[in-house]
Amino acid sequence: MFKKIDGKKIASELRTAIKKQTDARIARGLSKPGLAVILVGENPASEVYVRNKCNACEEVGFYSLSKTFPYGVTEDELLTLIEDLNNNSAINGILVQLPLPEHINEEKIIEAIDPLKDVDGFHPYNIGRLALRMPVLRSCTPKGIMTLLKSTGVALEGKEAVVIGASNIVGRPVSLELLMARCTVTTCHSRTVNLEEHVKRADIIIAAVGIPSFVKGEWVKPGAIVIDVGINRLETGKLSGDVDYDAASKNASWITPVPGGVGPMTIASLLENTLQAAELQSG
Ligand code: GUN
Repeated sequence: MFKKIDGKKIASELRTAIKKQTDARIARGLSKPGLAVILVGENPASEVYVRNKCNACEEVGFYSLSKTFPYGVTEDELLTLIEDLNNNSAINGILVQLPLPEHINEEKIIEAIDPLKDVDGFHPYNIGRLALRMPVLRSCTPKGIMTLLKSTGVALEGKEAVVIGASNIVGRPVSLELLMARCTVTTCHSRTVNLEEHVKRADIIIAAVGIPSFVKGEWVKPGAIVIDVGINRLETGKLSGDVDYDAASKNASWITPVPGGVGPMTIASLLENTLQAAELQSG
């Protein structure tokens, strides 16, 4: 019998704990943690994510600020805003919603953020710290995935972990997280030969490809833990993950649903990071 990893419930419990810690921080005479969210253009999915992030801040008692720019904004305008936010003591975390339009150099924008305000954990400083096993601010989706894995109570040390996807946002940092948890990690990507064979020997499968039902049930080794990062909108309007859930759950010991698995954890981790950043900045 497989068990569902309830990301919605775990994220809700995390938010409750963060609210409590935030109240305690304010009772110590310190400021509310403050998050600035920058959105460029009119990507409907990004608009929903940004709204959800700001609502979550309100729920736990954070201050939040959202800055929206038209598609045609220049790199200089964004850099000027980031510099202002770096110097604004009411703001502890800065998040630039990705993707950015093609005329903006994403790396340059991310590198302009003060690493101690980089609550997305995308700055080379934070990725480098994670690679060296001394993380400070950890990327939100990978951090949420590790929280979900730990919630199963299964020891991760020595497990074969196969990550499908090598993006800067999920695949690479989650591979580093799993390595830090002492898994044997294989990172697969679009040029991987015999992907299926890699997946079939995994004790832990992390699917972050962006293709509905890409991971087939028969690829899942009996007893494997399956974490589905995909959020794909089907033509029917229904959401689908990157894993064929019904077929995979016949073999998995633990599996995340879509929706209600990894998705809510990304925002909960962002709140954790914003509180952590506030604490770091108040010394
Ligand atoms: N776009 C997709 N996922 C993310 C994320 O976690 N953070 C930001 N800033 N942009 C994203």
